[in-house]
Amino acid sequence: MKLLIFLSLVTSAHSFVPVLHLSAQSTPSRTKLFAEGANGDSSAASKKKVIVLGGDGFCGWPTSLYLSDQGHEVVIVDNLSRRNIDIELGCDSLTPIRSPEVRCQAWKEVSGKEIRFVNLDVAKEYDLLVDLIKQEKPDSIVHFAEQRAAPYSMKSAKTKRYTVDNNVGGSNNLCCAVIDSEVDAHIIHLGTMGVYGYGTSGGEIPEGYIDVTLPGGRDANILHPAHPGSVYHATKCLDALLWQFYQKNDQLRITDLHQGIVWGTNTPQTALDERLINRFDYDGDYGTVLNRFLMQAAMGVPLTVYGTGGQTRAFIHISDTARCIDLAISNPPTAGDRVEIFNQVAETRRVRDIAELVASMTDVEVNFIPNPRQEAAENDLDVANRKFCNLGLDPITLDTGLFDEVTEIVKKYKSRCDPTKILPASFWNKKRAEECASIDPKSIQLKKDEAEVAKA
Ligand SMILES: NC(=O)c1ccc[n+]([C@@H]2O[C@H](COP(=O)([O-])OP(=O)(O)OC[C@H]3O[C@@H](n4cnc5c(N)ncnc54)[C@H](O)[C@@H]3O)[C@@H](O)[C@H]2O)c1
Repeated sequence: MKLLIFLSLVTSAHSFVPVLHLSAQSTPSRTKLFAEGANGDSSAASKKKVIVLGGDGFCGWPTSLYLSDQGHEVVIVDNLSRRNIDIELGCDSLTPIRSPEVRCQAWKEVSGKEIRFVNLDVAKEYDLLVDLIKQEKPDSIVHFAEQRAAPYSMKSAKTKRYTVDNNVGGSNNLCCAVIDSEVDAHIIHLGTMGVYGYGTSGGEIPEGYIDVTLPGGRDANILHPAHPGSVYHATKCLDALLWQFYQKNDQLRITDLHQGIVWGTNTPQTALDERLINRFDYDGDYGTVLNRFLMQAAMGVPLTVYGTGGQTRAFIHISDTARCIDLAISNPPTAGDRVEIFNQVAETRRVRDIAELVASMTDVEVNFIPNPRQEAAENDLDVANRKFCNLGLDPITLDTGLFDEVTEIVKKYKSRCDPTKILPASFWNKKRAEECASIDPKSIQLKKDEAEVAKA
């Protein structure tokens, strides 16, 4: 049996100031983002022990640092499957992410705080998960540990099956493990806005539950109907049913956060030391829309908009992801409460409007290419996000001042970019694959000077 190995790091506490400087053009939001350094909040009463499942990932790593910075005790669990998928896809984070061990050591050096790392597969190593929960007795368990790319989930039968097994199996294991360990931990899960479908409520998408009139005229408030648009989104809908069942059956305390598309790279904590840098995905499977556009603009290659670009989507900045998790940790439901559901979004925007905004700041073109996804060409999207705002979140909106942060990162690491990985590589069905047959991955060429940097 595999042993749990905890990475315990040497203390070298010293105080420090954030290294990221505000530029003269800093906008209020940029100032808000980077004015906070490490050791931000210090109200001791609310400090918790938190296990972060998937804490090596794009959202999990900066969230772990933020929680540690806020004074919570953090243990990261990750099986490094995302790093292995990079190898499988022949791609890599644009930013040079360090190993979990180096990351934790660097955090210890700059903050004096310890984050422990446990390599464990939540979907497969059930006994170890139970042992860990029994041993650590966490107040909260944040669950990021899922295969999160809709395109990757639609690539092949193999990736569809893996996504369902990993995501649904992991969530079920987590509920069983909390019950078996007899530890009253609050589960906080990252869902997605994609569980609702886009614009299917006929108005503002409520936070999880919707008022309906049942046949016979009886009024009810039920879980919003599921409208998944990919196998990945379907796993989040299945997760939601598992949460509902285990809350009802075992009185588990669960918060499900339906998050929008996350953009940005660094946070005040990851910016403190290059070894703490967050991952940045730009490839056709894992690169999310705004980050991909910013990256394409910084590389001087055309922005690729799928279909008409009429899809309206919800967005949130990576720093707000971390803040929302902290707010959820501090506001747990009590045993017996139904699953708490928040929409973790800042705002909604139409994809072609974002492309035009990014293009207007640079000299790149916007190219409309066939859509690899089976989805409505155009949709409106109105989303309620009052619960987090009522808890004090003042969300960062798509502010071009913050675009600079991403483009600076891209320019710094552009030699690591493989332009052949940018275009879509997964198609929702045979028809979409045929429509996309004309897409040539090699058609994205770096400008001459960029290509020379990339070769060097
Ligand atoms: N990134 C976004 O735009 C976005 C938007 C909405 C929701 N979310 C949700 O947030 C969560 C985190 O997303 P992300 O962008 O950080 O993804 P990510 O792939 O970067 O991180 C997920 C992490 O979980 C780990 N993991 C996966 N399966 C595991 C398992 N069985 N056991 C242990 N570790 C495992 C991976 O190795 C990875 O480090 C996901 O559940 C995702 O669905 C993300």
